Order: sequence, then C-alpha cells, then structure tokens
Amino acid sequence: MGLKMKKLVVLSGAGISAESGIRTFRDADGLWEGHDVMEVASPAGWRNNQELVLDFYNQRRQQALSAIPNAGHKILADLENHFKVTIITQNVDNLHEKSGSSHIIHLHGELFKSRSTSHPELVYEVEGWELKTGDCCEKGAQLRPNIVWFGEDVPLMNTAISEVMAADIFIVIGTSLQVYPAASLINCVSKNAQKYIIDPNMPSIAKQSDLHLIEKGGSEGMAEVQEILLTEL
Ligand code: APR
Repeated sequence: MGLKMKKLVVLSGAGISAESGIRTFRDADGLWEGHDVMEVASPAGWRNNQELVLDFYNQRRQQALSAIPNAGHKILADLENHFKVTIITQNVDNLHEKSGSSHIIHLHGELFKSRSTSHPELVYEVEGWELKTGDCCEKGAQLRPNIVWFGEDVPLMNTAISEVMAADIFIVIGTSLQVYPAASLINCVSKNAQKYIIDPNMPSIAKQSDLHLIEKGGSEGMAEVQEILLTEL
C-alpha cells in the first residue's frame, strides 16, 4: 500500500438501495410509490396538501426503519479500509449509515431529520417514524421533512463539488443522472481520476461520458469495482 490513501468519492442514487427493497423514482412510469413526485416532493405539493406529504414521508420512514443495507452499501463501507471514502448520496434513506460508512453527504436531505418551516436553520432528529401536523419547532412553527424538494436549493452542492474535484477515484452508482444540479457532478471530476458508473440500465448521458461503464446491479457491480481497485493497491 502507498503511504497516502487515495481519495475515493461516490455519487449514489436510488438504485443502490433497490436491492434493499426501496423503490427507485423513475423505474415505474415516473411515479414514486404511486405518487406524482411533484405532489409529494415540491413546495407547491406541501402548500397544497400538507397531510399527504407528511403521510408520504411517514411511510418512507417506516420502510427505511426495516430496510437493511445490501452488499453494495457494505462494500462501500469496507473500502474505508483502503481509501479515504466520501459518499455523496441523493438518497434520503440511512442505509449508507447503517452499513457503516462514516463520511456521507446527503445532497437531498435526510428522512430522519425535520426542520422548521419558519427558521430553516432549526433542524431536528425525527425519533421513530412519525411527523405530524402540530409538531413544531422551539419557536412554534410547523416542522417539515428536511428534504430538498424540486425547485429548492441544494445547500451542500458546493461541498459536493469540492469533494468530486479532489477525487482520485470516482464511482457513480444507481442514479439516472436526470436530476440537476446533482447530475452535473460528473462534469467536475478530474481528467486523471479513475471513473466508474454502475447501473443495470445505463443512463444514456453516461454512455457519452468518459466513465467506465459497468452495466450491472449495485452489489454485483460494486464487487467488480472493488476487485479492480484492490488489485491495483
Ligand atoms: N442497482 C443499481 N442501480 C439500479 C438498480 C440496481 N439494482 N436498479 C435500478 N437501478 C438504477 C436505474 O437503472 C436508474 O438509472 O438506478 C437508477 C435510479 O434512478 P432514479 O430513480 O432516477 O433515482 P435517482 O437518480 O437517485 O434520482 C435522483 O430525483 O426524485 C428525485 O430527489 C430525488 O434524489 C432523487 C433524485
């Protein structure tokens, strides 16, 4: 092993959690668990029907509580033995945490956090699965899921860009690369970095990039990349 661990940066999306039983967004006719995404994941949706949105995320939390990480998540956690790993995830589930990864950037927020609708800096843990109308911040304003909805800013985007720019190895896994600005991260990686993308249904934008294409499911594809990386150590 070299003296200095290489920096490995991962951009993950819904596909990495597919084998843990959490559905992706765009594999089912553009519906997310039976809902139009704008109904449950936009400021307009929240204004229109707060109960529906709270209930939707309550269900997602219940589902996440019982979900277990799959081999893809676990390989990423194990790679910390050999590389300085940062995971940038678009996922709001906590499966990267559950599998033991220690440096995770949740670009689109976290299911198990809530925040004040009037004071966005007031962020809380959600204990259990339920967030209800009437659950308020310390200043008395309704709490909402701490999720980045369509049309909202992505506060951690600059942090993510710096991480990707500094990567020696970059792995994209389980994202359709259709949602911006997250998808633009693939353009921030250095020319000299090793780059892989794992997806059983390869996004066409990836085919035009210089990412090495691994057209496989998350755990099988991660095992293949792990073998390549460990052989080169
Ligand atoms: N292993 C790996 N990838 C898989 C698997 C699997 N077993 N099954 C499906 N995939 C791939 C699909 O082929 C698809 O390319 O995962 C990708 C999932 O894409 P999306 O459903 O679009 O999810 P994602 O890219 O994470 O969505 C981005 O959109 O709705 C918003 O904020 C939400 O974070 C989300 C963002």
